[in-house]
Amino acid sequence: MVPKFSATTPIYYVTAKPHLGHAYTTIVTDAVCRWHRLCGDDVHLLTGTDEHGLKVQQYADAAGKTPREFVDEIAPLYADAWRQLDVKYDDFIRTTEDRHKRGVLKLLQACYDAGDIEVDVYRGHYCVACEAYYVEDELVDGNCPIHKTKAAYVEEENYFFRLSRFEQRLLDWYDKHPDAISPNFRRNEVIGFIKGGLNDFSVSRKTLKWGIPLPWDNQHVTYVWFDALSNYITAHGYGTDDQQFAERWPVDWHFIGKDIIRFHCVYWPAMLMSAGIEPPKGWAVGGFLMVGGEKMSKTTGNVVSPLELIDEFGVDGFRYYLLADTVYGNDGDFSYEGLVARYNSDLANNLGNLAARVATVVEKKCGGRGPAPRPDSPLAQVAADVVRDADAAWRGAQPSRALEATWNLIRATNAHLEQHEPWKMEPGTAVDAVMGDALEALRIVVILANPALPTTSQEIWRRIGLAGRIDECRVGVDTQWGLYPGGSVVEKGEPLFPRKKA
Ligand code: MSP
Repeated sequence: MVPKFSATTPIYYVTAKPHLGHAYTTIVTDAVCRWHRLCGDDVHLLTGTDEHGLKVQQYADAAGKTPREFVDEIAPLYADAWRQLDVKYDDFIRTTEDRHKRGVLKLLQACYDAGDIEVDVYRGHYCVACEAYYVEDELVDGNCPIHKTKAAYVEEENYFFRLSRFEQRLLDWYDKHPDAISPNFRRNEVIGFIKGGLNDFSVSRKTLKWGIPLPWDNQHVTYVWFDALSNYITAHGYGTDDQQFAERWPVDWHFIGKDIIRFHCVYWPAMLMSAGIEPPKGWAVGGFLMVGGEKMSKTTGNVVSPLELIDEFGVDGFRYYLLADTVYGNDGDFSYEGLVARYNSDLANNLGNLAARVATVVEKKCGGRGPAPRPDSPLAQVAADVVRDADAAWRGAQPSRALEATWNLIRATNAHLEQHEPWKMEPGTAVDAVMGDALEALRIVVILANPALPTTSQEIWRRIGLAGRIDECRVGVDTQWGLYPGGSVVEKGEPLFPRKKA
């Protein structure tokens, strides 16, 4: 049986256009999925948009549009952005779709029937930007701790999900699944939060119109987070296609930012448990990309548009920077200077230079045809170690480490060329031996780099005379040393990563 691998991104609020922070989470998810495809897995990547709730309704009002008109305008911008950034998703769910609504109704009813949803009165604060409830002592000077804006006092009849009943069940579940949250320090945070005692949370609003009415009381619409989290199962057939759901759930990873960890790692598994559904297998929690020391967001105004950067650095240059520059799980610092520096050092100088050098020497010293590698090349062991390390890192949702390993092979190959200086040799077996090894290392490098650089890796593959598509290669089979066929025509071509001025 072909192994299955399935991952999700958060579904993004349609109140902001796609920015670098959204692109970051989505590209990490895409690259990890691409690695699993290279391993031959049957992969599914789900993304989408979060379209209900007070925030969307307020933005629509401000734009003089109906919520429906408003969301229909913004949602396609996300799908377009992901296409332009070479994100290969399998499904894009919008919470305003009928299949989603049907699944949400089923989940609500299941939790209600289990006795875990009850009516009560909510008295407390609400931050519309977070779409989240806060108790008094979570506020900072009466303001939302994240957005630093006033959190409104609310007192209204709500239905509550009895989260407080799930403390022990959640702790037991995490005990049995010690690796479910990555990185590990986030797991400790979640466990600490649960042990601190869980409050019930509202699952409905009475004053809101833009949402899904509760199946047993249409005076209320579903709270946007209950609605949004459900996308992960409704997209996989919950409420519409039982067989599909049985085949696809639970997913392997929810990729999320650290800002939404409580919703995902506490509320969500409890909601699923209430309905008798297995929690997901794992959560890969990323940090924030900061700009000038602040989290990038529409509210802070420091928004960087991904689509402008790809004009300058190419899709692959931009993807590479996001994947390589920040250890997934930690906060990262975005700066234009940092992007230029990493592009120049890793892509223009290391990879680009290796590809150009190899092609030049093969043209001058090997008659333009790439020689075969030696089975006992000193680079063979380096390559085997790198393949092993890259595989472990991709599987652990650590793109920067996977790319660091891959670049070790690039560096070793450049060092191999510098050591032997084939450009100073006369044509013959000695040159062929050095260049065959370099070509073989480059062939393996571009397979390994393919999840980050889908287009340029394929172009290098073609230039070194290889047929077919990298995404049809298999890690473990095609990454074995010695498969570069001697005699292929090698082409130089224009620089793939022209140097940028610092
Ligand atoms: N709609 C909710 C998520 C519902 S998922 C069931 C939401 N949307 S959001 O558009 O505001 O943000 C979603 C995610 O975008 C964040 O959790 C995070 O993964 C990512 N990021 C948004 N800004 C970011 C940065 N500045 N840096 C890194 N990621 C950030 O919350």
